[in-house]
Amino acid sequence: MLSLENIEVSISGSQILRGVSFNVPARSVTCLMGRNGVGKTTTLRTITGLLRQTSGHIFLDGKDITDIAPEERARAGIGFVPQGREIFPHLTVEENLHIGCVARGKSPKLGLERVFTLFPILKEFLPRKGGMLSGGQQQQLAIGRALLTDPRLLILDEPTEGIQPNVIDQIGDTIRLLREEGKMSILLVEQYLDFAKELADSFAIMDRGAVVASGPIASLTDAVIQEHLVV
Ligand SMILES: Nc1ncnc2c1ncn2[C@@H]1O[C@H](COP(=O)(O)OP(=O)(O)OP(=O)(O)O)[C@@H](O)[C@H]1O
Ligand SMILES: [Mg+2]
Repeated sequence: MLSLENIEVSISGSQILRGVSFNVPARSVTCLMGRNGVGKTTTLRTITGLLRQTSGHIFLDGKDITDIAPEERARAGIGFVPQGREIFPHLTVEENLHIGCVARGKSPKLGLERVFTLFPILKEFLPRKGGMLSGGQQQQLAIGRALLTDPRLLILDEPTEGIQPNVIDQIGDTIRLLREEGKMSILLVEQYLDFAKELADSFAIMDRGAVVASGPIASLTDAVIQEHLVV
């Protein structure tokens, strides 16, 4: 579905990604893991086109998207929920959601009902400013906004970071539901091992700017975890 081949990225003259290669198979959940600062967010930002690679290729359904603009990638079906959520704090929940619809040029009606089914709290808080919501509610808003672009590939950067356990469960349920619907592929950056193991079909682990292990989630052994994930 998505395939990265030897992606290299430099920021301000220092090389951050040193040849990242991995695949996200269709209609499944792939978890990208790794310790702090190994380049996970940089990888996601390169996939969405927010950062430019110095070499390598990115393919979406066999099509080379390496050189197309972020807006075009969104239209091609890449939805992104950034680390730290990045909702607009001074806009209302309704306005924040509306931005998702505009991004893909779709009618909001159907999509909105679906988002409200997944996250009922958002319907209740439509007139509230985004900045007034709790961290977990903001995360739900960010996921809802991404879903409104009707993505074929949904990318989530640490959706459980700094969020209360009951909301983590709700986000896990949502990812599971989207997976079961079988319409989209999901690429999830996640540090909570249990959360990742429960949700993912496959994994890729990064260390110092490259993927050092990958495969079906069943092959994520304690030895691999010890070597690349335990701090
Ligand atoms: N804008 C930037 N300017 C300079 N260095 C950067 C910039 N963004 C990231 N880096 C560096 O690139 C490396 C990878 O960062 P990145 O955010 O991709 O890691 P990460 O795996 O997502 O980490 P975390 O788990 O903490 O989110 C880090 O060493 C970081 O300091
Ligand atoms: Mg990160």
